[in-house]
Amino acid sequence: MRGIILAGGSGTRLRPLTDVHSKQLLPVYDKPMIYYPLSVLMQAGITEVLVISSPEHLGSYRALLGDGERLGISIAYAVQRRPGGIAEALVIGAPFTDGRDVCLILGDNIFHGHRLPDLLRAEAARLDGCTLFGHRVGDPERYGVATVDGSGRILTLVEKPTAPDSDLAVTGLYMYDADASRRAAELAPSDRGELEITDLNLTYVREHRARLVTLERGSAWFDTGTHDSLLEAAVFVQALEKRQGIRISCLEEVAYRMGYIDRERLALLGKELSPSSGYGRYVMELAGA
Ligand code: G1P
Repeated sequence: MRGIILAGGSGTRLRPLTDVHSKQLLPVYDKPMIYYPLSVLMQAGITEVLVISSPEHLGSYRALLGDGERLGISIAYAVQRRPGGIAEALVIGAPFTDGRDVCLILGDNIFHGHRLPDLLRAEAARLDGCTLFGHRVGDPERYGVATVDGSGRILTLVEKPTAPDSDLAVTGLYMYDADASRRAAELAPSDRGELEITDLNLTYVREHRARLVTLERGSAWFDTGTHDSLLEAAVFVQALEKRQGIRISCLEEVAYRMGYIDRERLALLGKELSPSSGYGRYVMELAGA
């Protein structure tokens, strides 16, 4: 399975923060936002990742993450010329996925949960059609909302309903079979001219091949698309890291623990990060350097 991170959109809800910066490069406490979704893919065992962003920002992602080699993975890049919808990522990514299953994650979604990596690996192995990941929320009208039967098969799926049928929000993490790119390319654009992810998911729902896995209680999910949710995510990360004395979504640590890099490389990465940064010191200490 290959991974796609969509770091597009114009970030209008976060202006003026996004007037010159790409939203998914904004800081979430101690690291750029895109570290969080990238760490999810890496922990799921995905080592070939495509980052999609706008023409004006793609160079910044390349400067930040490079070709992935330092993390023992491979990162490629592709442009989304205008905000054409989440499902367009699968059309843009078609040459990259090249007939393989794909895990798509939104660059502004932050997930945390101890069992998430195992869950993603298990779901990737049993994928048939598409698998979405749900989280119970108090404000479902902000999201895609699903209802499911006892086995997790999706019965209904509605984008930002005014009167939601459930409190089960569809998060920005999606797994698809190899047919998804073709389906996405055949979607009719919505009124705002975009290829909507919910429309793509509905093609699988209609065939009874869409599954929703509800993330366990105790796991956290943030869509950092607003000023408040951006701050809430940062405060959550800070509290967790301070209390537990760890860093979450530290790419260097994830690469090491997943066996993508060895201890020597980890030490080198730690040295490259300034020891005057707490993040850099953390990586150096992990490496015993
Ligand atoms: C998008 C999707 C929505 C999903 C959400 C998750 O909404 O359209 O179905 O619940 O991401 O973050 P957006 O945040 O682009 O409005």
